[in-house]
Amino acid sequence: MSRLALCAGSFDPLTNGHVAIIGRGLRLFDRIHIAVSVNIRKTSLFTLDERIAMVLEAFDHDPRVTASSFEGLLAKYASDLGAVAILRGLRGPSDFEYELQMAHMNRHLTPELDTVFLPGEAAGSYISSSLVKEVATLGGDVSELVPTNVYAALRAKLAARP
Ligand code: COA
Repeated sequence: MSRLALCAGSFDPLTNGHVAIIGRGLRLFDRIHIAVSVNIRKTSLFTLDERIAMVLEAFDHDPRVTASSFEGLLAKYASDLGAVAILRGLRGPSDFEYELQMAHMNRHLTPELDTVFLPGEAAGSYISSSLVKEVATLGGDVSELVPTNVYAALRAKLAARP
């Protein structure tokens, strides 16, 4: 039986922190589906389609990694896809309280679905998509913080801005 985990987030853009969690998740699960969320509370730099394409390209179109956009309840989306778990990365203690709350709520909504936490890379504990965008916008070097294709897309996107 193929075991699917769902990894959700805004991924605006995907960072090496996400890549590490997904890559390590692939050792635990047969397949990982990346659910790129439509988050109206966040202003995005990349479109949903661009974010999905960047994720698939970063994993070299590995057939074990699929992606789509999603709106609504994550627990329902995961359950509809047949996922057995929601995969989350914990960058540090400050992530834990919020993540635990979400895990409990998602389990309340879909009891058969568990949340699996993986510790993020120690060296990447300070990375977030917003910070990467901010630093890149201000001319800082983020080449070591994101996959090569994301770095190229960031540069192109920022260069095309008025
Ligand atoms: N490495 C690097 N960065 C990481 C990371 C990691 N391992 N884990 C998280 N981050 C960053 C993300 O890039 C993101 O940065 P940003 O805020 O600058 O965009 C930030 O940490 C927060 O990540 P996350 O908690 O995954 O937020 P998100 O907005 O990317 O996704 C959802 C949140 C989609 C998972 C959540 O809102 C959700 O489940 N929504 C669906 C609605 C729902 O079901 N609600 C009930 C929940 S119980």
